[in-house]
Amino acid sequence: MTARDQGVIAPPLWLLAELTYRCPLHCAFCYNPVNYTDHSSELTTEQWIGVLREARALGAAQLGFSGGEPLLRDDLEVLVREGRQLGFYTNLITSGIGLTDKRLDALKDAGLDHIQLSFQDSTQELNDFLSSTRTFDLKNRVAKSIKAHGFPMVLNCVLHRYNLPHVDKIIDMALAMGAEYLELANTQYYGWAHANRAQLMPTAGQLREAEAVVERYREKIGHRCKIYFVVPDYFETRPKKCMNGWGSVFLGVAPDGAALPCHTARSLPGLSFPNVKDTSVRDIWYESDAFNRFRGFDWMKEPCRSCEEKTIDAGGCRCQAYLLTGDPANADPVCDKSPHHETVINVVKRAAGAAVQREPEEHPIVFRNDTNSRRLAALKTRGEPDHHNVADLAGARK
Ligand code: FES
Repeated sequence: MTARDQGVIAPPLWLLAELTYRCPLHCAFCYNPVNYTDHSSELTTEQWIGVLREARALGAAQLGFSGGEPLLRDDLEVLVREGRQLGFYTNLITSGIGLTDKRLDALKDAGLDHIQLSFQDSTQELNDFLSSTRTFDLKNRVAKSIKAHGFPMVLNCVLHRYNLPHVDKIIDMALAMGAEYLELANTQYYGWAHANRAQLMPTAGQLREAEAVVERYREKIGHRCKIYFVVPDYFETRPKKCMNGWGSVFLGVAPDGAALPCHTARSLPGLSFPNVKDTSVRDIWYESDAFNRFRGFDWMKEPCRSCEEKTIDAGGCRCQAYLLTGDPANADPVCDKSPHHETVINVVKRAAGAAVQREPEEHPIVFRNDTNSRRLAALKTRGEPDHHNVADLAGARK
């Protein structure tokens, strides 16, 4: 009897279609795999349409188009139309680069429901530095066009040591742009952000001040704009229920067709991810080893296995457990019941002693680009963790 026949696995709710790893930006905190250049092939339009149909038939209801930059795909409008006709709620997650009025018209016509636009900061200087591009003015123009086309808009700004002191200005910017939602997402340390952790990690004081600012604004602006402020895991004593539990609601499909139980699952060793090109979405979801490996509670070791809180956090994040302890089946060390919790405390302590530096000697920022990806991929093949790679990459910085 298969897992599905037993009726114990709920269907996926959220399909994230990562249409491409190509991107005009070079953000230091991108969550794409650092070795994305190893996976450069992309599904065809027909293959993507097949994925959307299969996922919808299983029960998925929300469809996000992301990347890289999804606007680099000429068939985005075709896929949005298909998704909408299938009954998905469709969301475009974009840097805004390439979002012309013509494309906005086409996306509106295709039935796109929602747009999430990313900014790096409220200032041109920092926005352009962190993305290693000159895109601030363009993003401002795009935000106006999105609103002029009548789309609901989430403004997303990833927070870290550099821009946390600007939170008030970032909120002012979102209000001026008419955003319905503002997502102030503190950096989660995976992918490129993990490679740049020494640079990006804020201090506890910065976080406290930023949270207080957010609270003041919430009281002042009421429902005009809903502000989400996500505290970084490293400052918590209980982990987040990552992806609401492995294989529970989220189905990600990478540009090359690999099906992933979370955005950064590719960083985990010992898992081979099924591909939509040769396995049905139904079999991927219900039967594959990758989606079943950390589903439920049977895979857990102590202290999670006997913990009375395991249904609340599902053991935390598998990718974080791997990055910080070397074993994805360990408890997420953010939890203060984990024997590895000290690792997290030490990272935070080191951040408290560090100052913002744009040109630090020891840990230069590694911007996301093809050259750095190939070098990180080569180091990864040799089995070295990302945070050790950074020093080796000193010469790779542009
Ligand atoms: Fe992969 Fe949390 S990011 S399980």
